[in-house]
Amino acid sequence: MSNDTSGNIMLELRDIKRDYELPGGLFKPKKTVQAVKGVSFKLERGKTLAIVGESGCGKSTLARMITFIDEPTAGELLIDGNKVDTRPGHLTADMRQKVQIVFQNPYGSLNPRQKIGDVLGEPLAINTDMPASERRDRANLMLTKVGLGPEHYNRYPHMFSGGQRQRIAIARALMMNPKLLVLDEPVSALDLSVQAQVLNLLADLQDEFGLTYVFISHDLSVVRYIADEVMVMYFGEAVEHGTREEVFSDPKHEYTRTLFKATPKADVDSIRARVAAKKAGKAA
Ligand SMILES: Nc1ncnc2c1ncn2[C@@H]1O[C@H](COP(=O)(O)OP(=O)(O)OP(=O)(O)O)[C@@H](O)[C@H]1O
Ligand SMILES: [Mg+2]
Repeated sequence: MSNDTSGNIMLELRDIKRDYELPGGLFKPKKTVQAVKGVSFKLERGKTLAIVGESGCGKSTLARMITFIDEPTAGELLIDGNKVDTRPGHLTADMRQKVQIVFQNPYGSLNPRQKIGDVLGEPLAINTDMPASERRDRANLMLTKVGLGPEHYNRYPHMFSGGQRQRIAIARALMMNPKLLVLDEPVSALDLSVQAQVLNLLADLQDEFGLTYVFISHDLSVVRYIADEVMVMYFGEAVEHGTREEVFSDPKHEYTRTLFKATPKADVDSIRARVAAKKAGKAA
């Protein structure tokens, strides 16, 4: 029997790179920043890959390339088994629909004068010819799915808490029925108790809609909760990639160990205990 799992791969990166040219001055030469220096991985359908690493290591740059906001300088991007033509203007509507992004601060991306119902309906209004009544039905359905309700349809962004706004951003991302969600620090700006609620919601939605997640976080306790696989980035490179169990119980790279050291010991201990308990459960 063949063990070819390519049909099961939702996202694949092949040696993806991104350089930024910084403008020079009168006596200053132009400078190139290598934000992402050649990252490759495959991610199975329905799984969550957490990407961790210190500020400036290239996490958001990677997120922007996967969601077509930035064009890679080199390398290949495959979504759902299809190679993406990342040149500006070459992206198909089908590709655009499949991949959505949720940012850390949804308030920045919400128009203060737009009612939530219109915020949610907008992607459908722009990208499809779905009638207004159906858009409204779908917006109400998605509000319910993220733990809000039709009573929120006519309210404005400032009338919501931070956690509720992040639920709205998630609902908006789901309006187009995507397959892959890229979440760039989606709970980092929220209080701890609210973080837990939003993480639970994301886990429920993943099951219900069969979503694949790329989850960017600098917080290892969040990663422990949500990740199937963990990739550690360091200065634009992926220095470690494995299952959550592998990376947490036996970090290979020096930088990963440093990352654990920077995390409160109680956190690391509880992560290790959880991983060990899971292993013991599997072995039994
Ligand atoms: N548009 C841009 N122009 C020039 N340089 C950029 C641009 N975007 C990112 N960079 C540089 O690329 C590198 C990676 O940045 P990136 O935002 O991807 O890091 P990050 O891992 O998301 O950091 P953080 O944890 O702070 O969000 C940094 O050195 C950054 O200054
Ligand atoms: Mg970032």
